[in-house]
Amino acid sequence: MEDSLRIGLAGLGTVGTGVLRNLSEHRSLLKERCGKEIRVVAVSARSRHKDRGIDLGSIEWEDDPVSLASRDDIDIFVELIGGENGPAKTSIQAALGAGRHVVTANKALLAHHGHLLAELAESHGVCLRFEAAVAGGIPIIKVLTEALAGNRFTRIAGVMNGTCNYILTRMEAAGLAYDEVFAEAESLGYLEADPNLDVGGIDAGHKLSILSAIAFGTRIDFDSVTLEGIQRVSIADIEYAAELGYRVKLLGLAQMNDEGLQQSMQPCLVPASSPLGQLEGADNMVVVTGEPVGQIVLRGAGAGEGPTASAVVGDIIDIARGGSGLALGRPCATLSTPAISADTGISAFYLRLDLVDQPGVMAKVASALAGAGVSIDRMRQKSHRNLSAPVLIVSHPVASSAIDQALIAISDTGVCTDPPVALRIESG
Ligand code: HSE
Repeated sequence: MEDSLRIGLAGLGTVGTGVLRNLSEHRSLLKERCGKEIRVVAVSARSRHKDRGIDLGSIEWEDDPVSLASRDDIDIFVELIGGENGPAKTSIQAALGAGRHVVTANKALLAHHGHLLAELAESHGVCLRFEAAVAGGIPIIKVLTEALAGNRFTRIAGVMNGTCNYILTRMEAAGLAYDEVFAEAESLGYLEADPNLDVGGIDAGHKLSILSAIAFGTRIDFDSVTLEGIQRVSIADIEYAAELGYRVKLLGLAQMNDEGLQQSMQPCLVPASSPLGQLEGADNMVVVTGEPVGQIVLRGAGAGEGPTASAVVGDIIDIARGGSGLALGRPCATLSTPAISADTGISAFYLRLDLVDQPGVMAKVASALAGAGVSIDRMRQKSHRNLSAPVLIVSHPVASSAIDQALIAISDTGVCTDPPVALRIESG
């Protein structure tokens, strides 16, 4: 490397523009911190003449990101194009193959091809860094691979999609239905071009699969994440959960149990007083449990120009300082292919049963729960709605298979006016 660090940057959307702005505004600060000038040599994006509010005057333009990635006058290729295939993938492969370091914010690409790219980086002796890919401005990758490298991790939990957290907290605060808040989030520009990436839990699932691999030393396995989005979370359940002292979150959970790796991204209840329960708006939070450190909670902005650019620039500085390191925290050859576990262990559950209002109905429900080995911790009957009586139950900790069995038995008795709702209650 020379006394300046030369960047080729592909993708000038919100994050790419933010990175250029950061590198320009913090130019002397960054030079002091890494001992060399960071210079953007060339950029590539879809539209050359779009007004981005930044001066690209002295920076060369490349129409093709793959050509940019292969230039021999860059040290680092920064990929901010996005997408799990296409030019993002081919340009990163070209850069790594040409012996260039790569910094990316592309969670979808890493969730699907991260192992392949990490191997390529390793075999060419270059860095592949992706702090911005998980939870935006929160430095969770460095925390897992560096600061907490002396720990055996037991659990990673978190809210990793700000749009979903915005929707859920806004529904609760304003008493609005999902569809209304979804439309509001869309008009505010919070949603991805394909909204299902956000509300379907896919974007958050991508992030969780990357963290699991690093924490548990496994190959990235997005396909085994149990995924459920927030589309079916009702305002009724959010309000009932609040009355019981809980909040509904799209919660990612990864843990290694005796069967293998269990990963899920689904709506759960967490205590309102817990760190995750107090997470408002579009922020993200990751809760890491390790031995011997115990629990570490990281909270911050999971998206947006400034926070995401902060993570990208942090990776650039690391490389400028001569940081090497392995993309996934250990050699790719040592990453295992774990058995997949659906066993989420035992936990309490919130149940909402909309029941016909007749004598003997509760006896049938109690009998079905008892038959499945589900013990009731708390139970409340709400005011009637039409001909239906909503009954809320919080169970004692139990396996989800017992809840499934109980719900089938309850439905089979014919006492429900609507399909029962069951949400896991997790510690937050
Ligand atoms: N759409 C994501 C979010 C940001 O709402 O958190 C990018 O992953």
